[in-house]
Amino acid sequence: MSENKKSDKKSNGWFWSKKKETKNVQSTKKSSIWEGATLFAETRPKITMERYRNPTEVQMSQMVQPCHTNHRGELSTGQLLKWIDTAACLSAERHAGCPCVTASVDDIYFEHTISVGQVVSIKAKVNRAFNTSMEVGVQVSCEDICKDEQWIVCKAYATFVTQGKSTKIKLKPLDPQTEEEKTEYSIAAERRRMRLAHTDTIKNLLTRSHVNDDLQNRECNVIVPAEKTRVESVELILPPHANHQGNTFGGQIMEWMENVATIAASRLCNAYPTLKSIEMFHFRGPSQIGDRLVFKAIVNNTFKNSMEVGVCVKAYQHEMEVSERHINSAFMIFVVLNKDNQPHTLPVLKPEPGDGERRFKEASARQKIRLDRKYVVSCKYNEVPLSVPWDQSNKVYLSYNNVTALKTLVAKANWVLASERDKDVHSGRGQVSLCPN
Ligand SMILES: CC(C)(COP(=O)(O)OP(=O)(O)OC[C@H]1O[C@@H](n2cnc3c(N)ncnc32)[C@H](O)[C@@H]1OP(=O)(O)O)[C@@H](O)C(=O)NCCC(=O)NCCS
Repeated sequence: MSENKKSDKKSNGWFWSKKKETKNVQSTKKSSIWEGATLFAETRPKITMERYRNPTEVQMSQMVQPCHTNHRGELSTGQLLKWIDTAACLSAERHAGCPCVTASVDDIYFEHTISVGQVVSIKAKVNRAFNTSMEVGVQVSCEDICKDEQWIVCKAYATFVTQGKSTKIKLKPLDPQTEEEKTEYSIAAERRRMRLAHTDTIKNLLTRSHVNDDLQNRECNVIVPAEKTRVESVELILPPHANHQGNTFGGQIMEWMENVATIAASRLCNAYPTLKSIEMFHFRGPSQIGDRLVFKAIVNNTFKNSMEVGVCVKAYQHEMEVSERHINSAFMIFVVLNKDNQPHTLPVLKPEPGDGERRFKEASARQKIRLDRKYVVSCKYNEVPLSVPWDQSNKVYLSYNNVTALKTLVAKANWVLASERDKDVHSGRGQVSLCPN
């Protein structure tokens, strides 16, 4: 963790350079108090006031208080999700100029925990507007004021949709200015394609292996029936749970979902688990004040050191109503850490027949996607060649890999497009150069 922190601190992104600017101003002001106003005018550093700022950018800073923490004294993920949703919504509405609702939040990987007294900074900006929907990119960083250290905690991509009273409101296009904005703008289209195809992706990836084969391959011989981890909880939507449009606040729903998922995970291992990542919140339909929300959570599958918990949210209007609306679903990955922050080996889950076995297999498919992304990002390509033969059944799976690989390339300096390189060769301007340049 400290290694990561160091490298984040070295990062020369504009987020960190802003902090340096602030520091300069403070130290100069100090000397001006002692040495007089003239000296202040002479030595004052030239602050570039015209620093470009994305017009949709929204920043939020929060000092973590005990009321925001979980049983481990760390910032609870549910609280963080509320802050992320608020900042992202304000950014979306700044671009749209009208009320917007959260349609989905993509996978979030939590790299670090956050403690009481530390400052959380959330920065949100619109990456791209489509028709009625737009992607908002969110970066969460944490600051330890006493140690003067900052590090990135997670990044998230949320999709917001405009809310017209009777008609759909079409968004104006976004005009990216900086290189970073242009990159995000391009990749946003690819991320949109993947999130809209998410359900089909999982269907395509469903492992053909039988559940019993999966169970036999596990080293741990403690078996826990999935039924033991089942959780159900109901919430009545009251005015404090609504957002500024009168709908249930999306961040609040995500917080409740995280709460029931944590209980399910605790039941599996009889310990306090830590949330490592969330696989896509999908807000399927709205709910309002007076609605009852029923949250159901169960552990879908366990792997060596992690487990997947599935959470489903349904709504009904009053106690006499029998039909329920599906409001949201998400999958959360938990680990159980010992005192040295090392993950415990988890028991094997025995799924219930029928739906339980389906969820068990789907969880394995999702884990494959996660491991594969991790492998691509880790750049250990020479250990195993990164080549998977294409066929109709794995095209969506391959596109996940390709996008991640493209992101890695984009992050590297001195790359040229092969077409640009060839142009130089044909026009006799350049020499034959390999990519990277
Ligand atoms: C989000 C919502 C409006 C979409 O409704 P819908 O009937 O699926 O609407 P459409 O099919 O016309 O799609 C509208 C846009 O949403 C996008 N969308 C739909 N599902 C999506 C998903 N899972 N992820 C990302 N975008 C999605 C579509 O791509 C489309 O974008 P486009 O207009 O830019 O092409 C609807 O599902 C909803 O009201 N959800 C609940 C929102 C909510 O209450 N959030 C929490 C409180 S803010």
